[in-house]
Amino acid sequence: MKKLFFETIDSTNSYLKDHYKDLEDMTFVSTDYQYKGRGRMGRTWKSEKGKNLTFSFLLKDPSVIKEYRALSVVSALSIIEVLKSYGIEDPGLKWPNDVYAGDAKICGILLEGASTEKLECLIIGIGLNVNEEDFDEGFFQKATSMKLCTEKEIDLEELKEAVYQRLSDNIEKLKRGEDFFEEIAAFDYLKGKRAFCRIDGEEKPIEALGIDRDYSLKVLCEKEIRNLSSSEVTFHI
Ligand code: BTN
Repeated sequence: MKKLFFETIDSTNSYLKDHYKDLEDMTFVSTDYQYKGRGRMGRTWKSEKGKNLTFSFLLKDPSVIKEYRALSVVSALSIIEVLKSYGIEDPGLKWPNDVYAGDAKICGILLEGASTEKLECLIIGIGLNVNEEDFDEGFFQKATSMKLCTEKEIDLEELKEAVYQRLSDNIEKLKRGEDFFEEIAAFDYLKGKRAFCRIDGEEKPIEALGIDRDYSLKVLCEKEIRNLSSSEVTFHI
């Protein structure tokens, strides 16, 4: 396992996308500042310099790549486990892979693949709000950080190590075929909530019935039960 650090970089996900062929499985790349940080759905990810964790993990093992649906929620679960160990009591997983503390977003995850003919790697990019205190409020989303939740300044290096350990342990468990359903279901933030959801290009009201065993999201939409896969939806509550 290789750990790389850049003081400044465009985006840790873009770095791994550009260099994955020359890098080993489980390469971890982190930075103090991204000047072109990317979020889901083509959004940008802004993070104040030296205040937060911004990093990406490269996965090249085919037995892990095929578990991409599980990886999305297991990455979020790993962050939740670390947040709990830092005394944050109410973390939740807003499917597919946002992490909330109470009703505010504390962490975003961008899972991307790179391929020529077949999928050759997966990249898990994680932005965790740690010591930042001022956020531009998004139209739909409120943001928070570990410092705002705990009223304590967090040591970034210790936290980075804790996240790295938890994430690599959970990926090893996934390789051994372990099931995470029960743990994940316990933190299901959307379950029972009504939300609006873009499905097949159209904005529709849904009721979230909960994360299912295959890590898709079961919803009630126009009186029909549907299982949504993460690529087809965006949510707001
Ligand atoms: C989202 O909630 O939209 C996902 C945000 C993901 C941000 C992280 S920060 C590290 C990695 N590099 C990027 O450019 N994006 C991800």
